[in-house]
Amino acid sequence: MKIITVAHQKGGVGKTTLALNLAFYLKDIKRVGIVDTDLQGSVQGLDTLLDGITLISYEALQEGNYPELDVLLIDTPPYLTSKLSELFSVSDFVLVPTKVSYLDAMALKATMALLQETQQAYPNLRAGIVLNMVKPRTSMNREIKDILDAYPIPTLKTRIHERVSYIRSVIAGGIVQLEDSKAHEEMADLADEIIEQL
Ligand SMILES: Nc1ncnc2c1ncn2[C@@H]1O[C@H](COP(=O)(O)OP(=O)(O)O)[C@@H](O)[C@H]1O
Ligand SMILES: [Mg+2]
Repeated sequence: MKIITVAHQKGGVGKTTLALNLAFYLKDIKRVGIVDTDLQGSVQGLDTLLDGITLISYEALQEGNYPELDVLLIDTPPYLTSKLSELFSVSDFVLVPTKVSYLDAMALKATMALLQETQQAYPNLRAGIVLNMVKPRTSMNREIKDILDAYPIPTLKTRIHERVSYIRSVIAGGIVQLEDSKAHEEMADLADEIIEQL
C-alpha cells in the first residue's frame, strides 16, 4: 500500500479538495482509502458521498485496523501538530498544495522544514509542492518562483487552476463526475505525476 499525505499547515489552500479528488480519481483503478486527521472532520462529514472509497479513522490507521488497500490518502489539518511528522514518516509521498501568492509561498517554510527533517530519517519519502487555485492566463511572478525554487521540495509540473467545478467536486463524487475536461486533465496529470514517483 502506498500512502499519500496532503499537508500544509495553512488552511484554505486546497488540501481537502485535492485529497478527495485524488481519491475519487484513483478509486476506479485502485482500492483507495482516505483518512481524515482533521478535528474539524471535513472528509468525515462527507462519508455518505464517498462511494467506493474506504473512510478510515485516525485511530484505525494507528491500530492498523483497516482493509487491504492499494492507495491511502491522508488529509491533514490546517495547523501544525506533532502528528504531522509522525504521518510524514509513514508516508510514501507528501503533497503540499499552495496558492500562488507571496504570503502563501512564504507560509510553506514550516512544512518544508518538517519534511526535510523527516526525509533525513526516511530517505525514501518523496514530496512535491502543487500550485493550486492558479488563476487562468497568468504567469507566475519572479519573486514567488524564487521562493519556491529555494525550498528543498520540488514544485510539480502539474498546476491546478481556479475552477468553480472544484468547489462542487467534493460533493459530486469528484471532478471526474463533472463536465469540465480541463479539470479532468489536470487532475489526471497530478495523479500520474505522483504515482510515477511511488
Ligand atoms: N482549484 C480550486 N479552484 C477553486 N476553488 C478551490 C480550488 N481548490 C480549493 N478550492 C476551494 O477553496 C476552499 C478551501 O479548500 P480546502 O480544500 O477546504 O482547503 P484546506 O483543506 O487546505 O483548508 C474551499 O472552498 C474549496 O472549495
Ligand atoms: Mg481541509
